[in-house]
Amino acid sequence: MISPFALVDKLAAENALSRGEMTLLLESLTPELAERLFERAREARHAVYGKDVFMRGLIEFTNYCRNDCLYCGIRKSNPDADRYRLSLEEILSCCDQGHELGFRTFVLQGGEDPHYTDERMVGIVRAIRSAHPDCAITLSLGERSVESYRRLYDAGAERYLLRHETRNEAHYASLHPESMSLRNRLECLRNLREIGYQVGCGFMVGSPDQTVECLVDDLMFIKEFKPHMVGIGPFIPHKDTPFADRPAGSLELTVFLLGILRLLDPRLLLPATTALGTISPTGRETGVLAGANVIMPNLSPVGVRNKYLLYDNKICTGDEAAECRFCIQRRMFSIGYDIAVTRGDYAGLTGDERQAV
Ligand code: 5AD
Ligand code: FES
Repeated sequence: MISPFALVDKLAAENALSRGEMTLLLESLTPELAERLFERAREARHAVYGKDVFMRGLIEFTNYCRNDCLYCGIRKSNPDADRYRLSLEEILSCCDQGHELGFRTFVLQGGEDPHYTDERMVGIVRAIRSAHPDCAITLSLGERSVESYRRLYDAGAERYLLRHETRNEAHYASLHPESMSLRNRLECLRNLREIGYQVGCGFMVGSPDQTVECLVDDLMFIKEFKPHMVGIGPFIPHKDTPFADRPAGSLELTVFLLGILRLLDPRLLLPATTALGTISPTGRETGVLAGANVIMPNLSPVGVRNKYLLYDNKICTGDEAAECRFCIQRRMFSIGYDIAVTRGDYAGLTGDERQAV
């Protein structure tokens, strides 16, 4: 039987493994194997992106949500979530401040909040686009109609993050209420990519009932779907959810998966997430050393930061945007990486695609 070390080399050489090989790789996780994987992942990442880390300014503009995902602290049936919405002016002021700080991508993330109709969202996207024509706009607003996605794209949004959460039907059903379906989620992802967005999918690591088979399903799906971005982070319980007593996902498995994803597509935009920084004080640095190349510091106004709580003990809830920005820079310098003041597009895009905004 092929050794797990040889599997890492095969993955690095071919950017693919069979289901059986991927299963074996995941089941063979040891610190030594992880180190081999991270070395290969860093080589792949340096060949495409060098030692640049792209920063995205995250603006959490609403924590109202019509959904009831069992893992999430802002689910609609959590009466203790202190709800807020940011106005257009507040969002623009976050972007202005972010631009000063060197951000060239803004990520607008929110719960599925019916207040933000297509008209309102189009207005917000247009206003950001005209105030900051040199910046990319990423949306993360959950499931919407194909018309809605198209209108937002036409208004100037060019990237969309929608984690698929899990590619396993039974697992999807155990994490979500009956009103939600994996089928619809995947349909949204296909629509987004068809419209022309750079698309990000992703999943939590160590979510309740997740098995190795689920993770293999996720990785095989990503290989086939070929997203531009993949957001993964550990599951972390939130005290007011049905999963309050479930254990958090581990740093080790999350960064191992980051390394695998880097080798599945060396051009991927792969964030070291806030959740990773929450389960370990140097989680984001470890993530970058495992193959991640994106960091998304928070740009939300300090007054609302401690309200966008998807999970417990989230970091940076008391810090100003500038503090996070320079904290990230120090952290990246400390491991020999640089912050790039650029839009940070997917390396595979042609010049035309980049200019099509
Ligand atoms: N722990 C970690 N990640 C979470 N998310 C939601 N709730 C949690 C949690 N408890 C992730 C989901 C979602 C993204 C915005 O945050 O994957 O898609
Ligand atoms: Fe926010 Fe370090 S990134 S304080």
